[in-house]
Amino acid sequence: MKYKVEVEKVSKFFVNPNGERLQVLDNISFKVYDGEFLCFVGPSGCGKTTLLRIIAGLEKPSSGRVRVEGETPNPKKIRIGFVFQEEALFPWRNVWDNIKFGLEVRGNYNPKIVEDVVRLVGLENFKSYYPHQLSGGMRKRVAIARALAVNPSIILMDEPFGDLDAQTRWIMHKELYSIHEKLKKTTILVTHNVEEAVYLADRVLVLTRRPAKVKKEIFIGLERPRNKLSSQFIRFREEIIGFLREEVPEI
Ligand SMILES: Nc1ncnc2c1ncn2[C@@H]1O[C@H](COP(=O)(O)OP(=O)(O)O)[C@@H](O)[C@H]1O
Ligand SMILES: [Mg+2]
Repeated sequence: MKYKVEVEKVSKFFVNPNGERLQVLDNISFKVYDGEFLCFVGPSGCGKTTLLRIIAGLEKPSSGRVRVEGETPNPKKIRIGFVFQEEALFPWRNVWDNIKFGLEVRGNYNPKIVEDVVRLVGLENFKSYYPHQLSGGMRKRVAIARALAVNPSIILMDEPFGDLDAQTRWIMHKELYSIHEKLKKTTILVTHNVEEAVYLADRVLVLTRRPAKVKKEIFIGLERPRNKLSSQFIRFREEIIGFLREEVPEI
């Protein structure tokens, strides 16, 4: 199958607590190739998390349709790896038990699988550590390993590194790049960090302010691993920041 994800004319309305209709997504269409790394960048509050939740089948579109591997997304049927914006590890479970969680709920826990993803994210020596005993970057590795453990069809990442310091974020960009090189899992990552998008993505979609529409599609045709200081890299960054600035003049 050529496309892993197809989003066709998706709009989404919410009803506020005071009864007003709030439009969050406006007629969004795009497709994601098998193995592609797609990034969305867009202003805060434009609807990025809502879009990911719809792709994961956690929320229904008000109109339009979504297909993941040709089917309507259903969290009970399709395995989707979700790395959340907020810290979502269980504080009372150690690294190993956090990572095995998704397998456990599906009733197919297999220590060999956990061992493989633990090694992939470089946490071999920290299996029995609890989240509070880990650095921010290590906790992200656990979250990524947990998402990968279920062998998902796609990985959805919602501003995964937003709460990290700049240096750790750089390290995590490299880590995620090399994981994607190894596994070639179809990944959709939303971020407002343009550097992150240009470093990781095959293609960047820039979203407008709420209600989000797709404003621009930019193919990042740079060799990998990318050099964040190269002039071509900086040109892509500036181009995307220019589009974002049209939406958020304050940046
Ligand atoms: N379940 C909901 N009910 C009502 N409003 C919501 C709900 N979920 C999100 N929103 C609103 O939709 C808008 C977009 O939210 P979100 O998708 O989280 O944006 P982003 O992730 O881009 O910051 C926000 O104004 C938010 O308050
Ligand atoms: Mg969000």
